[in-house]
Amino acid sequence: MKKLNERKASGTFRRLYADTGLVDFASNDYLGFARIPVEDHTYGQGSTGSRLISGNHPLFEAAERSISDFHGAEAALLFNSGYDANVGLLPALLERNDFIFYDASVHASIRDGIALGKAKGYKYDHNNLDSLKTRINNVLGDRIPENSEVYVISETVFSMEGDGPDLQALSTYCKENGFRLILDEAHAVGVLGPQGRGAVVQAECGDGVFARVITFGKALGCHGAAVLGSKLLREYLINYSRSFVYTTALPPASVNVIIQAYERLKGDLGADALERLNANIDIFRRRQQDLGLSGYFIPAMAAIQCCEVGGVEQVRMLAEDLQSMGYDVKPIRSPTVPRGRECLRFSLHAFNTEEEITGVLTILEKSLKKMRV
Ligand SMILES: Cc1ncc(COP(=O)(O)O)c(C=O)c1O
Repeated sequence: MKKLNERKASGTFRRLYADTGLVDFASNDYLGFARIPVEDHTYGQGSTGSRLISGNHPLFEAAERSISDFHGAEAALLFNSGYDANVGLLPALLERNDFIFYDASVHASIRDGIALGKAKGYKYDHNNLDSLKTRINNVLGDRIPENSEVYVISETVFSMEGDGPDLQALSTYCKENGFRLILDEAHAVGVLGPQGRGAVVQAECGDGVFARVITFGKALGCHGAAVLGSKLLREYLINYSRSFVYTTALPPASVNVIIQAYERLKGDLGADALERLNANIDIFRRRQQDLGLSGYFIPAMAAIQCCEVGGVEQVRMLAEDLQSMGYDVKPIRSPTVPRGRECLRFSLHAFNTEEEITGVLTILEKSLKKMRV
């Protein structure tokens, strides 16, 4: 296994860790919902088959109706995970004559979805609308070729950087030019917008968006995902999306957990958690400034705060320092991010305390000084 040895030699070998019991600055459980025990035993554990054969429990369509309403979309279709949603949505849409333009930082599931499709893919600079425009002009000139669709795909909160594009400008540009905009809201749902409805609702740009991918394994604290879009898109995916058709549907018990998570989000518990999360994001950003660390951090208003350090060894040592002092902060290395863009990814939560935030940043500041990064 030569390739494994290469990873070991370059310091990028991946291994599994058990729960560390450290203060959580690593999980995607932004609102703390994953910590709430599930007590409902009403629904069975197995769905018994694909939704097209025997697995279509009535809960699925009830969940899809309430999820699409909540996010202001015409329709929703559940998938088993966000990964499945991206590798199911994109190849179903992307035909040989089509074009897809993607932000340089999109998640691996989006890249894999593009690779499985038949269209040509073109990368543009991260969050850079001018770069997208130039790329499209260079590739297409001033018209869309006949029998072609042009897709643009981005995340609304990037999973590593925590930042996002100017959605108003991006969606207006796509709408004006007849391009189909797809947005992955995995890290925005439950965090941004009224009641955590996401960045598209916050920016009021839903009419310029062709499809949204939302996931339930992050702020909603459970598992699964959905594609939001038109009723026609939903019908199309039921017919052509291979990761929807050829897989056992989520267990009804899991769908019920998703429904409960949405109820929580809409209620007092959700409002309270969202308020505490936002307060913690504010505290984190203020402490960054107080400690002179702002230059290291990518400016971001969501729950992911990314400290760019650069260098495999540096991020490993910094993460070890933080972990040895009781804080679970993970180093992000290549190939998850490009070489030289290694970073520490801080995930903030409703349940983090002010002391924990001050503590982790104080140690970071000392470690950076010690290393003279
Ligand atoms: C932007 C983005 N899309 C999709 C996914 C995949 O979602 P899931 O974990 O539900 O498979 C992730 C997960 O990390 C993500 O960050």
